[in-house]
Amino acid sequence: MTILDRIAALQQQVAELKAANQEELENLRIKYLSKKGEISQLYDEFRAVPKEEKAAIGAPLNVLRQSMEAHLNELREHLAAAGSSIVAGEDLTRTPDPIELGTRHPLSLVREEIVDIFSRIGFTVADGPEVEDDRHVFGMLNFAPEHPARDMQDTFFVEKEEGIQKPTDILLRTHTSSVQTRVMTEFARRLKEADATGKECERSLRVLCPGRVYRNEAISARAHCFFHQVEGLYIDKNVSFADLRQALLYFAKEMFGAGTQIRLRPSYFPFTEPSAEMDISCDLCGGKGCAFCKGTGWVEILGCGMVDPNVLESCGIDSTVYTGYAFGMGVERIANLKYRVKDLRLFSENDVRFLRQFESC
Ligand code: DAH
Repeated sequence: MTILDRIAALQQQVAELKAANQEELENLRIKYLSKKGEISQLYDEFRAVPKEEKAAIGAPLNVLRQSMEAHLNELREHLAAAGSSIVAGEDLTRTPDPIELGTRHPLSLVREEIVDIFSRIGFTVADGPEVEDDRHVFGMLNFAPEHPARDMQDTFFVEKEEGIQKPTDILLRTHTSSVQTRVMTEFARRLKEADATGKECERSLRVLCPGRVYRNEAISARAHCFFHQVEGLYIDKNVSFADLRQALLYFAKEMFGAGTQIRLRPSYFPFTEPSAEMDISCDLCGGKGCAFCKGTGWVEILGCGMVDPNVLESCGIDSTVYTGYAFGMGVERIANLKYRVKDLRLFSENDVRFLRQFESC
């Protein structure tokens, strides 16, 4: 066999070489690459090759040495990664079962968009418990104990102990306004502490309260026993109804398009005075009137108003110094307007054929 034939024969074997453990690997190294190894011997013989043949033999010989070194390195890595019980050189790259990636829930997408829009004008997010007490959900928000406004928000009560039939004041919150009472109370505490110690503190409050809420409703295409809200609250000196209107107009245009108009209709909530419902111009008919907006050209999207002084006081905020506005919207309602989902139940049924449609909207 000529030297070239032997190089070619060895080259063919390289990729087939295997080592089950470090010892076998070392044996391979000795066999081929050590001073007396087969490849080193070829180099010894190469020295005696006539000048004019050197190039034709040197090139494949170098390739052989490099591919042997690379292959043994690869075997070494396999042994290190898999432990010596696995035969190195074996294919360890079996394709796993494909993992199907999900998409984000349409309500999460809409909630994030609402939060994003308001965060651009200084609102931050506040959180609070879903299992709440009567005081934070109703009492501190100016709902008198027997007031008919409570009937609009019947909910689920949690009994304190087994055997006690009378509902206690622990309940599932009916709106995220309960978070407002918590952040306002904390705000009042901070103000008092700052006044007492002379320390600096932020003297205004601008928060969003997104979250799940519950109501005792029969489940249908238009109502559910739980849904989602985002509420907003701004407390400062000299906050006016014009500030509220401007913030909501900005929101409507960002959410539904620059051509969107809003209108505020007088309404009633125990915790705001004056109170209003906000409508946006129907983007299906451009305000002319259609089946979607029931011929009015407007669709209702949220409730709002100026925080009632009683609410400020119940949280410990001096209502002669501070004023504020608040608003609250249903995330499902906004999602319906954006995506025209006719049946509310689809949002909680987890049917991926429904859920998959929204991520790229
Ligand atoms: N909490 C009200 C509801 O669930 C919505 C609402 C209206 C919230 C006016 C507010 C507000 O903060 O100012 O029906």
